[in-house]
Amino acid sequence: MTAGAHTETGRGVAVDVQSVSHAYSIEGAPLPVLDNISLRVEPGEFVSCLGPSGCGKSTLLRLLAGLETPSRGSLLSGSARITGPHPSRILAFQDATLFPWATVWQNVAAGPTARNELRGSRQRIDEAIAQVGLSGFERAYPHQLSGGMAQRAALARALVNDPSVLLLDEPFGKLDSFTRMALQDDLRALWEEKRFTGILVTHDVEEAILLSERVLVFSDRPARLLREFRIDLGNDRERTSRKVVKLRGEILSALNLGHRGKKREAA
Ligand SMILES: Nc1ncnc2c1ncn2[C@@H]1O[C@H](COP(=O)(O)OP(=O)(O)OP(=O)(O)O)[C@@H](O)[C@H]1O
Ligand SMILES: [Mg+2]
Repeated sequence: MTAGAHTETGRGVAVDVQSVSHAYSIEGAPLPVLDNISLRVEPGEFVSCLGPSGCGKSTLLRLLAGLETPSRGSLLSGSARITGPHPSRILAFQDATLFPWATVWQNVAAGPTARNELRGSRQRIDEAIAQVGLSGFERAYPHQLSGGMAQRAALARALVNDPSVLLLDEPFGKLDSFTRMALQDDLRALWEEKRFTGILVTHDVEEAILLSERVLVFSDRPARLLREFRIDLGNDRERTSRKVVKLRGEILSALNLGHRGKKREAA
């Protein structure tokens, strides 16, 4: 990839999903996964996606990352149709898949190295490591890091590319709840500073509320967009605030998870 291609990265761009349906083929039989999804994420907006396990959320992120081509419809980043991966759109996974043989610094440098841009990127790599709170661990290897630190390194590896769209697939799913809370706060602060367009898939309703401007709720497979909740909290994001607790209840109800206890009583 040329250095020129990378100049498209920077602040958030709009993401458009237009009438997208997708099916996989399992032993010749089609498995419909996404059913006519249309949505727009505004430039610099942070949106979370919630829905039942297996409904197709990761598939949607893979389509946005350009790792799959939809069976129907189109996806756009800015005005450009998404036809493949691009460093301006970075997908970060639940498993912080760092290269085990490389140091934190070398892992974070992976993108610029692959693009032959290491020379001009050294400062940016140092900054990305500092932004996620890993200064001092540049020379550590992944096996010398805690789970939270590895996830921070993975985040720095994404941020160093200055993505205009950051796609996050349950990035904190495997962390203990204290580490997760700290990373949620840090991710929110990073987004407030950089204003990339963020699309997060999570099973954690509180995480979705605390990080997002909007929460999208999807149905069972094949996923349809069921509801959307605007999170009008500005930067006042207190976990225990009445507004957050109320929104949490509303979203859990939309997911059909709100009244488990009552249902059990009725059964
Ligand atoms: N490469 C693939 N080939 C065939 N089927 C696939 C492939 N990837 C995913 N699937 C199927 O597509 C469906 C949706 O998977 P996906 O990973 O998008 O769900 P998800 O909403 O992210 O689930 P979870 O919340 O458990 O992560 C599942 O039934 C899965 O078996
Ligand atoms: Mg998934």
